[in-house]
Amino acid sequence: MDQASRLREIVRKKAYEPACHGEAGRAREGRWPAGPRVIAVTSGKGGVGKTNIVGNLAIAFRRLEKRVLILDGDLGLANIDIIFGLNPVYNIKHVINGEKDLAEVIVKAPEEICIIPAGSGLHELVHLTNGQKLNLLNEFDTLNEDFDIFLIDTGAGISSNIIYFNMAAQERIVVATCEPSSITDAYALMKVMFTQHGTRSFKLLVNMAAHADEARSVFENLSNAVVRFLKDVSLEYVGFIPKDDNFQRAVRQQCTVLQRYPESESSKGFCKLARRLLAGPASAGCDGNIKFFWRKFMSYH
Ligand SMILES: Nc1ncnc2c1ncn2[C@@H]1O[C@H](COP(=O)(O)OP(=O)(O)O)[C@@H](O)[C@H]1O
Ligand SMILES: [Mg+2]
Repeated sequence: MDQASRLREIVRKKAYEPACHGEAGRAREGRWPAGPRVIAVTSGKGGVGKTNIVGNLAIAFRRLEKRVLILDGDLGLANIDIIFGLNPVYNIKHVINGEKDLAEVIVKAPEEICIIPAGSGLHELVHLTNGQKLNLLNEFDTLNEDFDIFLIDTGAGISSNIIYFNMAAQERIVVATCEPSSITDAYALMKVMFTQHGTRSFKLLVNMAAHADEARSVFENLSNAVVRFLKDVSLEYVGFIPKDDNFQRAVRQQCTVLQRYPESESSKGFCKLARRLLAGPASAGCDGNIKFFWRKFMSYH
């Protein structure tokens, strides 16, 4: 069996069959861009909830019949695989080195979510030879028709890999909490991305807010600074996830809150967020496409 068919076997399970109905069906009819939507989840400061947001958002997208692929682009300790209680053996480094093909590296999380572990391979992504780049692009070419959403957990800050992931993605969700340092770091990230790399559009998600007003004031704070100092930047508010004890309970059980406590306020927040993201158009100007994403990413170094 060749790699493409093996990969298809991994991802094409019964859960995906009804994709001709509802929103997924409309996607096939042309309302969606040419490939999967590529969404980076990022932040200026660490510990704001990105990895857990990626995990929960993936589950929320699945409930809307979307097929989800996640790239773990964070070298931090609390990786996306831990959130789902997984223990991957291989990572993207093995693909780069030609030891494994992508199908062997991708791990399956609950609800048919697929994950590409990056691990130590993340460092190598910025030092690829032309041959390795081509190899990686060919591997990713097989994925486009198998997924509707490609989510990237970028890690925090302004190191080059994080900036490049953000630049290459079609949409960027910046996560901030109500803490002043998280707000200033979110601003600093957008400023660097705009002034040094020309990225103009961002979405803001406020996490761990006590209530809607508190979250809204974080957005207003940031938005005022953006309007004043980063004139060509657009910052769209996509809502908030409340601070929730069940969230932390679920984390301790290596499960997402949406799976374990679906009636919790934070779980409802993720469902609302997924619906909102799907209702809006993907950012204009480029195709959502996994290979296109990697081609852009690789062109930066
Ligand atoms: N909405 C929330 N309510 C309660 N706790 C949260 C919430 N979001 C995140 N957390 C807590 O914050 C911790 C850090 O989250 P994590 O996803 O690892 O952040 P990051 O990936 O940004 O470093 C989690 O272990 C969790 O306990
Ligand atoms: Mg993280």
